[in-house]
Amino acid sequence: MQKILVINSKGGCGKTTMATNLASYFASQDLATALLDFDPQGSSIRWLNQRPKSGPSIYGVHVASRKNTTGVTRSFQMRVPPETDCMIIDAPAGVTGHELMELIRMVDTIIIPVLPSSIDIHAVTRFIEELLVVGKVRQMGLNVGVVANRAKKNTLTYRSLERFLKTLKLPFITTLRDTQNYVHAAERGIGIHEMWDKRTDSDKAQWRPLTRWLEDANPVKTKRKIAH
Ligand SMILES: Nc1ncnc2c1ncn2[C@@H]1O[C@H](COP(=O)(O)OP(=O)(O)OP(=O)(O)O)[C@@H](O)[C@H]1O
Ligand SMILES: [Mg+2]
Repeated sequence: MQKILVINSKGGCGKTTMATNLASYFASQDLATALLDFDPQGSSIRWLNQRPKSGPSIYGVHVASRKNTTGVTRSFQMRVPPETDCMIIDAPAGVTGHELMELIRMVDTIIIPVLPSSIDIHAVTRFIEELLVVGKVRQMGLNVGVVANRAKKNTLTYRSLERFLKTLKLPFITTLRDTQNYVHAAERGIGIHEMWDKRTDSDKAQWRPLTRWLEDANPVKTKRKIAH
């Protein structure tokens, strides 16, 4: 099972958008997909509840509501069906310290969405430092990558985000543009990979480096797909 955490301590950078679009992508590839919402706001679960009955199903759990006195749920893994191919965790904003460590231990891949703004660049610098130094994600052999989100390509803020991401010692995987397509998809409980409007073609193309990176990170699943 591939286990992906979408996280950034900064709020509003696109964690839920990425988590739900990833879930929709995997489900549309006929992979058994689970979406775990660790955010008390429950935005991913609300998205899941909007999903059309005709689309490929996604198994959802609102983990935030099941926290017990020992911290993050111990038994949540058991709630994911055993045949799950891809498990995606949508993290809340502001996760640090012990809670961050618990989330890191549950996954093999971490995706960090970042917005083009100096406040977001500053916040993510500290967050990445915590992942590397305290979380020891490198030593743990985790795949960690960064995605620029809500980009308006020819703006100064995007250019400074791009420059910053290129200096990181983490892969800068792709850039997702700022578009209402994500807003419309969210309202309908689908992802851009489930939209057939030509206007989503360039968004699908922007996701390609990310889905390729995930497939490369998980050759077992890729092999399974080839064998199908
Ligand atoms: N690429 C994009 N283009 C346009 N709108 C976007 C894009 N990505 C995210 N948004 C919008 O930005 C808002 C915040 O996104 P989202 O809820 O995914 O962030 P978040 O990191 O999960 O926030 P929180 O920290 O509150 O959980 C939402 O209204 C979402 O629809
Ligand atoms: Mg969210």
